Amino acid sequence: EKGGYPHFMLKEIHEEPDAVRRCISPRIRDGKIELNIPGLPNETLAKTERIHIVACGTAMHAGLVGRYAIEALARVPVEVDIASEFRYRNPVLGKNDLVVLISQSGETADTLAALRLAKGRGIRTLAIVNVPGSSIAREADDVLYTWAGPEIAVASTKAYLVQLSVLYLLAVKLGSLHGELSTEKEQQLCSDLLEMPAKIQEAIDGEPDVLACAEELKNAQHVFFIGRGVDYTLCMESSLKLKEVSYIHCEAYAAGELKHGTISLIENGTPVIAVATQPSLYPKTVSNLEEVKARGADVMLVCDKDAKVEPDLTKNLLRVPNVDNILAPMVTIVPLQLLAYHIAVLRGCDVDKPRNLAKSVTVE
Ligand code: M6R
Repeated sequence: EKGGYPHFMLKEIHEEPDAVRRCISPRIRDGKIELNIPGLPNETLAKTERIHIVACGTAMHAGLVGRYAIEALARVPVEVDIASEFRYRNPVLGKNDLVVLISQSGETADTLAALRLAKGRGIRTLAIVNVPGSSIAREADDVLYTWAGPEIAVASTKAYLVQLSVLYLLAVKLGSLHGELSTEKEQQLCSDLLEMPAKIQEAIDGEPDVLACAEELKNAQHVFFIGRGVDYTLCMESSLKLKEVSYIHCEAYAAGELKHGTISLIENGTPVIAVATQPSLYPKTVSNLEEVKARGADVMLVCDKDAKVEPDLTKNLLRVPNVDNILAPMVTIVPLQLLAYHIAVLRGCDVDKPRNLAKSVTVE
């Protein structure tokens, strides 16, 4: 059942290109996005004033990428909440708002409670769910299924990729309905999205480089991830993935926040992984990387194939395929998922079933 792979986590990472293809291609026709959400016709989407994305764990991290994409492409304000916080903070919800719940399993107790809260207030709800017929899928006003097939490993990998896929489709759709995207730009983004499965495959093919980095990091006690903008959200997801499966203490920081406290933790040999895929922010993140390096950190950089990297800037370098900047998270997360996987294997951890964790968290 693991299809020849030693673990479900690795099998599921390798399934990402197909899962993303299944999720995206039926929803693009003639250079246009077709979401076919019965309760959310174009007129309603065009009037959406604010979006609240609510989820837990990796699904919440997907929501953070969704916020960047929706705000950049559609200029619709987006808030992202952890479901267990949202449900108890008496959130301010407007009548033209949309609450988007993201969940692989569709059974996460806090996300379900957040959905019920929004419905109880009469706010329209849209679920992005993988498991067909699950509670969240049944109770939400509308559902966009991610169609990734079963995800068995406790660590979520392919589900994150398809959640991103749906969020990008929604962002492009909203962008065109809110008059922020020209027909040409929409067409271009659609064709870029259709190319993502091949780009993700290219990222997976870089696995040998990742394995070499895993060897170097396998004995680490702490790992820090730094990035800016959407790369910061990737840092959060990478940090969660690595700590979840390898039991290494990991933290993700907005690179610009280092100076406000965290840099005091850096000493000789502390591993710091910088993610820098956005050209406009690249020099800033590199300068933060130089600062931690000057304090003895062992630095690793994840960036795209075109980024100009000074020869002695980093000890390790992982390059990801070039894609439109806005879509970079879809390829950038791949080596970081593989890194978590390989480090956990090298440390002899129970990769598919990490201690103390359940695949689906049905109690709060
Ligand atoms: O089934 P869900 O997507 O609602 O689950 C949410 C989280 O429990 C889940 O993403 C968790 O954080 C993963 N174990 C992370 O790999």
